[in-house]
Amino acid sequence: MNSKMIPFAVINPDAPPESLEAKQPNVDNGAEIYGKDGYFSPELMAQEWDKVWTQSWLIAGVSADLQKFGDYFLFRIRNESIILTKTQEGVEAFYNVCPHRGARLLTKERGNKKVFVCPFHSWSFRNSGELRTITDEETFQDAVICHRPGLTPVACEEHAGIIFISMADNPPPLKEAIGLPDSYLANYQIDQMRVVRHVRSEWGSNWKVGVEAFYESYHLHAVHPETRGVMGDLNVQYDCYPNGASRMIVPLGQPSPRQADQTTVNEGLQYMLQEAGVDPAGFEGTAADVRVAIQQAKRARSDRLGLGYERFTDGQLSDSWATGIFPNVQIGCHPEAIFLMRFLPHDTDPERFWYDTMTLMFPVNDPNFCPPAWMGLPEGTDVTGNVRPDTETFLFGEDPSLGLVLSQDAELMPSVQEGMRSKAFKGQIWGEQEQRLRHFHVELERRLND
Ligand code: FES
Ligand SMILES: [Fe+2]
Repeated sequence: MNSKMIPFAVINPDAPPESLEAKQPNVDNGAEIYGKDGYFSPELMAQEWDKVWTQSWLIAGVSADLQKFGDYFLFRIRNESIILTKTQEGVEAFYNVCPHRGARLLTKERGNKKVFVCPFHSWSFRNSGELRTITDEETFQDAVICHRPGLTPVACEEHAGIIFISMADNPPPLKEAIGLPDSYLANYQIDQMRVVRHVRSEWGSNWKVGVEAFYESYHLHAVHPETRGVMGDLNVQYDCYPNGASRMIVPLGQPSPRQADQTTVNEGLQYMLQEAGVDPAGFEGTAADVRVAIQQAKRARSDRLGLGYERFTDGQLSDSWATGIFPNVQIGCHPEAIFLMRFLPHDTDPERFWYDTMTLMFPVNDPNFCPPAWMGLPEGTDVTGNVRPDTETFLFGEDPSLGLVLSQDAELMPSVQEGMRSKAFKGQIWGEQEQRLRHFHVELERRLND
């Protein structure tokens, strides 16, 4: 229980309570220090599999990747592989397993197939899951094939352009499980966005160390000092939603309050002005005016190009709304683009995880329209969305070229993992800037003990 008043930043004190920007009521998640075994122990990794990964709704991918009949992609989590496919009925999901002898049906991550032919004995299945042909069917006794074995379905639903699956027998209603207001993600019109980059890299820590690092801005000053000129890292609004969801609104286009100089329009701020379509050379305000100038310029651009930004608050036009959905997702939401990151457990090693990131761009025919620079798209990335790029995969130790900020995080994780292993470390001590971590762990504990 908090016995003292802790100052919480509020992005827009005038936001009406129904506004998505409104500060949510504080959630008292206590002050407990949790054990650390869950970061190392194979037994707890197995328990997470049974109680969390196989019971939760998980983001398998995005609707943009299943546009035409027959389009499919594979979602892999530990040693399960699931086919997401566009049938005549809509999006459906099946275990990527042949019922004959268990072979994986599909191995290529993405493609278009209306019929899946097993590589082992060439049984074939429609993409709606039903058995199509059995090779040499006359050589099978009726008793073994009379049930016409098809593919095993997985619960699958789309919400706001995102495709969720659940391996649970009776998953809870998806919207309730997400925990966010219905319009929260829908406002971004992710269903109209296109994937412009997809990178999967192996990181040297437990997946929860990854989630935690991206759920707070407390480390920005230390790990990412170059953000000081452009991110209000102490003015962050943290909000907790039901079922482990949470978000932080990080104001961008303003210097950190940790920095003495609050007036110079530094290089980073100039760059952000430029991105919004303001010529920094002609800008007459100080650093304190940049965030609002960005908002106004984006409104004007929306009016010019018909982007419908009336659906966004001013703050949404400038700030980062980093939004977490339990268990393993954070979405950096911006009107121009979203940055969807998933922290996927390693197949066997509790001290590794897969950091899977997709950048999706809203298609706009304007040469100055670009995703925020911090998303770290390499120079020359095709942002038209016309061609779905292949997933770039990097093993631990390889440089995934995710940009400076994410490289700094990737470099730090293994030393955090190692330090936590030490006999001296007793469990994490969280402040209120880390309230999302506590909120996540409260939900995790609830699920593990369910
Ligand atoms: S395992 Fe698929 S046809 Fe035999
Ligand atoms: Fe970071």
